[in-house]
Amino acid sequence: MQSRMLPKYYLSQEIFDREQAKIFRKVWLFAGLSSLVSENNAFITRKIAGIPVVIQNFKGELKAFENVCLHRSAPLQQGFCGRRALVCPYHAWSYDENGSIKHIPDCDALYRFSDAEKQSLKLREFGLKQVGTLLFINLSDDPMPLEAQFSPKFIELLTDSSNQYDTEVMVTTWHAKFNWKLVYENLRDLNHVRYIHPKSLGQALKFQKHESDIFVDEAADPLADLSPQGLRTEMRRFSHAGAEDAEYAQSRQYAWMSMVEPWQGVHGYYNWLAYPNLHIASGTGGYSFSIENHIPVSPGETDVEIYYFTAKKKQAYATSHQVLLTHMHYSKKVVGEDIAILEAVQSTLHHHASIPRQGAYETQNRLVERWYTTLMETDHEI
Ligand code: FES
Ligand SMILES: [Fe+2]
Repeated sequence: MQSRMLPKYYLSQEIFDREQAKIFRKVWLFAGLSSLVSENNAFITRKIAGIPVVIQNFKGELKAFENVCLHRSAPLQQGFCGRRALVCPYHAWSYDENGSIKHIPDCDALYRFSDAEKQSLKLREFGLKQVGTLLFINLSDDPMPLEAQFSPKFIELLTDSSNQYDTEVMVTTWHAKFNWKLVYENLRDLNHVRYIHPKSLGQALKFQKHESDIFVDEAADPLADLSPQGLRTEMRRFSHAGAEDAEYAQSRQYAWMSMVEPWQGVHGYYNWLAYPNLHIASGTGGYSFSIENHIPVSPGETDVEIYYFTAKKKQAYATSHQVLLTHMHYSKKVVGEDIAILEAVQSTLHHHASIPRQGAYETQNRLVERWYTTLMETDHEI
């Protein structure tokens, strides 16, 4: 079967801008962990769909604003995370929990704003939702309900598992040279594991999935319901949670495992795929987790941001930092193997490149492609 994915979807700036507007500024996107902003004045900054964002704790209440001062556009907060009141470092304008001006030093003497002018100043605020300890942001003026994007079961599993996350977290970012869609395609393709990760993940995860032909036929037909509701319902199918349909050799037991409370009921490899750019995995039966967030930077660049943590510690122990570092090194190997092949794929692309050909096991990707190309090639919106 021929794929619907033309080279331009991975190469064109115009398509990239359309994706940012029609997908990334419409849907709920992972923005961080509540444990990073649990104290008054704690903040995290992000660049999401090209927009600088700050998530700030105001006496326990979390708010998301555009991280740009209304005076002369300085970023209000800088750095990945920190603890500081929402005050611009440039000329010290400060803002309250509604994004309104709290104080402008020497306002009457220097600026001579009328009260009405001062009251009209307000930071742009974004939708923010907490799912367990995961923070999701929505950049739209009229955010869709979270339930339109993720099924109730998916939200429940995310909530339940993330409440079991420990608060000690290690974060690292890879600057990769490929289009963001190559990652989601790769995550929905377990057949690569034995070839790309023969000495790492492939040792534990044995792919054995065969898709049903019913789905194959379905992906070949055009989408029937092109209403926003219909397109959202279709999108919801792209996010799911569960043990992969693969044989998993339970990984070794490590001493640190006795120090944490694992997320219950999991054996082997369990993962959450949240369209468009979030992947959470536990390869240790709920004892530890990684969150991968794939942030599109340009048609040929994606930041792969990874968070490592264990399940909640029973109590603090001396080597917990070392445990996270070991996780990071292992994942550096696995993710490095994926990045190397995906960068190689991206490097072959040009505007006259041949169109990929897929088989029945790639149905999941074919369903995403059908939806994605409909969105890119028509005026329909989600
Ligand atoms: S730019 Fe922020 S106070 Fe001047
Ligand atoms: Fe992989």
